[in-house]
Amino acid sequence: MRELSLHILDIIQNSIEAGADKVSLLIDEDPDYDYFRITIEDNGRGMTPEMVQSVKDPFVTTRTTRKVGLGIPLFHAAAVQTGGDLNIESTLGEGTIIKVSFGHRHIDRAPLGDIVATISTILGGHPSLELIYKHQFKERVFEFRTEDVRDTLEDVQMNHPLILGWIKDYIKEGLAELYGGENE
Ligand SMILES: Nc1ncnc2c1ncn2[C@@H]1O[C@H](COP(=O)(O)OP(=O)(O)OP(=O)(O)O)[C@@H](O)[C@H]1O
Ligand SMILES: [Mg+2]
Repeated sequence: MRELSLHILDIIQNSIEAGADKVSLLIDEDPDYDYFRITIEDNGRGMTPEMVQSVKDPFVTTRTTRKVGLGIPLFHAAAVQTGGDLNIESTLGEGTIIKVSFGHRHIDRAPLGDIVATISTILGGHPSLELIYKHQFKERVFEFRTEDVRDTLEDVQMNHPLILGWIKDYIKEGLAELYGGENE
């Protein structure tokens, strides 16, 4: 079982490869109602309806270095085995929305894992990306926006070690508060 945060990293990397400069990640979960939903939206180049149709098929990729694309099919399979699904809405020239749902309490649902590492890996490699990470757990909400940090940064890059360290701590503390000792 692969941590969901690693799948999320793959999906956001797809967005960046598709030229997106804005990505939003929404996680919405409630164990009491047995749902765990992940939505990733980007403003990249988008896909044609034919591409969207075939993209869950592991033999479809625009990569040239390797024959098969596995990011989306693996995430899809991880969702289906918990009674969930993966859906893609995409518009050429506008962007893509990927929605993935899981049974929260299903024995085969992988844990979220290290989402802080996923976010710092992305921002470390792509400091000018506008990223929104919103996480709802039951009735509580945590939100992080690079926009808010950037306003106070002036000339310092988002991937400066001190800034990345601060962002990691901020998210860690935010999630600890969000979960409030429950769940993960
Ligand atoms: N957000 C996106 N915007 C535009 N095209 C996308 C997006 N996500 C995926 N695609 C297209 O779907 C294809 C399949 O994606 P997938 O992640 O499954 O495999 P890959 O990225 O090609 O390879 P891998 O993830 O295994 O390294 C990509 O090659 C790309 O053409
Ligand atoms: Mg990929």
